[in-house]
Amino acid sequence: MTIKEGDLVLFIYKGKRELRKVIRRVRRGEYFHTHLGTICHDDVIGLEWGSSIKTSTGGSILVLKPTLSDLMEQIPRRTQIIYPKDAAFMIIKSGISPGSLVVEGGTGSGSLTLCLSFAVGESGLVVSYETNKDFLKLASRNLKRFGVKNVVLKNKDIRDLDEKEVDAIFLDIGNPWDVFEQAHLALKPGGTICCFVPSYEQMRKVVLSAKDNGFGVAEVYEVLLREYEVDERRTRPKPWMIGHTGFIIIMRKIIDSDGQQSQIT
Ligand SMILES: C[S@@+](CC[C@H](N)C(=O)[O-])C[C@H]1O[C@@H](n2cnc3c(N)ncnc32)[C@H](O)[C@@H]1O
Repeated sequence: MTIKEGDLVLFIYKGKRELRKVIRRVRRGEYFHTHLGTICHDDVIGLEWGSSIKTSTGGSILVLKPTLSDLMEQIPRRTQIIYPKDAAFMIIKSGISPGSLVVEGGTGSGSLTLCLSFAVGESGLVVSYETNKDFLKLASRNLKRFGVKNVVLKNKDIRDLDEKEVDAIFLDIGNPWDVFEQAHLALKPGGTICCFVPSYEQMRKVVLSAKDNGFGVAEVYEVLLREYEVDERRTRPKPWMIGHTGFIIIMRKIIDSDGQQSQIT
């Protein structure tokens, strides 16, 4: 498949120390400027994905289709965001799939929203709540830039969530326990609630208060990821890594045989 006008393209080229990665939507008549020279978008349109192209001064630039992880790395942000390592794990553990109805709070910069949108696909829906208007505007711009169409953004507190028969709820807010009562009503029986919190104190409070609110089978994780560098001379872990992002807590809505809130230890 070749690159079409309007596609998002990932340009990769040599920086001073590391490879540089920039995402642009290609449009006829526009240019991409780098320290290695300029390329005209017209020369990119019609190329095979994965091609290498020469700049005006002879530099080489690789053009690739951006992955979800590339998009997340480049997302303009004004809040702490969920990283690919955590988002991938949260989504797999949540059990959501194409067609699912998912509720999120808060939207922040929209990084997790973007992943949830990919996971539920065109037949699914993500409803995301954010109290801060400025963050919501940024998230809305980010999602529009990436062509997302299956997300509804609400400038509203998630404690007042409107949805019912929800497959999964994702909470990346400071006080997720304040939403448990409403979340229990909104979720389908057996539905998943997934909380992301940065501190041990929050993690304990999530697990203990969730038990009192009809959630069970809590699983708590921290995802640690180490990247390696491999070349002709040596193979070793990269000297830096993301030390800590947060704890992931996955729980299920439990009911008794009368459909009432229930508890399991
Ligand atoms: C850490 S950020 C979320 C980042 C987001 N997960 C991402 O990947 O970009 C937390 C957000 O939750 C919002 N927030 C906090 N409490 C909220 C609530 N009760 N309802 C809706 N949004 C809330 C904050 O304004 C903030 O933007």
